[in-house]
Amino acid sequence: MGLFSPQAALIYDINLIIQAALVIMLVLGWIKKKPYRVHGIIMGVATIINLVTVLTIMAPSLIVNIDALIPYTGDIGQSITIVHSIVGSVTVGLGLLFAGRFLFKMRNNDPLLCGSRRLMYAALALWLYSFGGGVAFYVFYYL
Ligand code: HEM
Repeated sequence: MGLFSPQAALIYDINLIIQAALVIMLVLGWIKKKPYRVHGIIMGVATIINLVTVLTIMAPSLIVNIDALIPYTGDIGQSITIVHSIVGSVTVGLGLLFAGRFLFKMRNNDPLLCGSRRLMYAALALWLYSFGGGVAFYVFYYL
């Protein structure tokens, strides 16, 4: 029994709250682009927390419920889950790439340029899209 829906297990409601908090963190980190050190730390921490939720909550849910995706029938819930998982994985990958470069540059006292502006905006847009997909999943299956 969850917080927002009797259908959702508590852990998925907790995930929803964490993901909403991460989006707020992301927007704050984006507004506060300078100094880049603060921006990099906020984005890096958000990425690590997100990675932890993927590895401990979302990927296990995907694996446990993989039968619901096979065979693919074009069902809307299946489509939401597949697109969400793919876009989410790309987003986390980009976040880890930036965070890794950030740590490397900090360690070497190099200028903190960890990716092109365009790629950063793409990562931000993908993250927001992943969040939207997750909310769509929640609404579709639990509300
Ligand atoms: C930026 C990355 C991501 C964001 C912002 C995000 C966000 C969300 C949100 C808000 C939910 C709804 C809460 C819930 O039901 O737990 C959700 C659910 C889910 N996500 Fe993600 N997610 C991301 C990455 C991923 C990745 C990489 C995967 C797969 C490897 C994934 C698989 C799932 C699955 C399977 C669920 C349904 C969990 C369930 O209720 O059974 N997500 N996600």
